[in-house]
Amino acid sequence: MSLLELDDVKVYFPVRRGVLFDRVVGHVQAVDGVSLTIEAGQTYGLVGESGCGKTTLGRAVLRLNDITSGRVVFDGTDLAALPDEEMRRTRHRLQMVFQDPLGSLNPRQNIESILAEGMAAHGIGATREERRKKIVEILRRVGLPAGALSRYPHEFSGGQRQRIGIARALVLEPDLIICDEPVSALDVSIQAQVLNLLEELQDALGLTYLVIAHDLAVVRHISDRIGVMYLGSLVEEAPSDTLYAEPRHPYTRALMSAVPVPDPDVEDSRERILLRGDLPSPANPPAGCRFHTRCPWRQPERCDTERPSLTDLGGGHRVACHYAAEIADGTIQPTRDLAPPVLKEVPAGVPGQAGGGEEPVATTS
Ligand SMILES: Nc1ncnc2c1ncn2[C@@H]1O[C@H](COP(=O)(O)OP(=O)(O)OP(=O)(O)O)[C@@H](O)[C@H]1O
Ligand code: SF4
Ligand SMILES: [Mg+2]
Repeated sequence: MSLLELDDVKVYFPVRRGVLFDRVVGHVQAVDGVSLTIEAGQTYGLVGESGCGKTTLGRAVLRLNDITSGRVVFDGTDLAALPDEEMRRTRHRLQMVFQDPLGSLNPRQNIESILAEGMAAHGIGATREERRKKIVEILRRVGLPAGALSRYPHEFSGGQRQRIGIARALVLEPDLIICDEPVSALDVSIQAQVLNLLEELQDALGLTYLVIAHDLAVVRHISDRIGVMYLGSLVEEAPSDTLYAEPRHPYTRALMSAVPVPDPDVEDSRERILLRGDLPSPANPPAGCRFHTRCPWRQPERCDTERPSLTDLGGGHRVACHYAAEIADGTIQPTRDLAPPVLKEVPAGVPGQAGGGEEPVATTS
């Protein structure tokens, strides 16, 4: 059974200009038509480079960002259409764990106070004693001693603080936890411990996760399905093993080629696809396939003018590329010498302009 279903979700932020008259001069298309489903008890990994809209999508699910259009169906209810009061009552079932645990924990509150605050607001635990009992139980589950109750966030290491962040979500008895870059601020050795903890908690409590990361290596082992996002949209989605065995979208192949392989022989000979240029601005996305400004396999005309839709190639492997089949069978080879693409004209004053993506793309193998 699916717990969360996103149907063509768009989140556009208006870009305003003017001192006397506040005019909307454009929109940042941070999330532009994402559809995906997360099954109860499973983990969906969402990856893509900085600025592609991952956090905005996560926040939109919790309705921390307004949804411009589309449906966010959680356990059969469209959250986008839910009145504020009902959303408030539902919110404890959807929690978020943040990248920077210290930044998201109030330094002046002790751990008991941080954890009890949300419980009281959502009516979890009738008395202070009841709440304390539950907090101690959850602290044990996340691997922290009961003595942590009276201590303050700065007294803990980065990994322990992330455990506190996870505990703060758990005390509210959620069904879905959105983990936004949960380990990217941690040392590599600690990252695995926190990911293992998330898996243990999932098994014990039947949790469902949306795990956001910019690094494919982080989500690999924890995810049942993985979605790859580029400039506000999904470009590929597949069961985790399938995505790693057969990445079909050029962008996924480029991301994958950046993940080091432990075997030195394989590492020396593996394909490396270097993407030149930055992500174009979501305020002024390229026409046609949004990846065409950086795609080594870009073909004339169609790639520049027609936007590919996410198409199921079979077995739930969805890819948004006009030439996925030809690229896979080698009929189309990557080019090293691309003409600079033509981008749409940009209204003056729109921040973060379409920079970067215009450079030619080179590949090496
Ligand atoms: N409140 C806002 N108003 C205007 N633009 C915004 C707002 N929030 C995010 N954006 C823009 O939306 C785009 C997507 O941002 P988002 O933070 O969702 O990306 P991300 O994939 O989470 O990146 P990162 O990996 O760096 O966290 C960016 O261009 C960002 O500048
Ligand atoms: S549609 Fe064209 S530009 Fe887009 S990913 Fe496929 S080959 Fe590249
Ligand atoms: Mg983010």
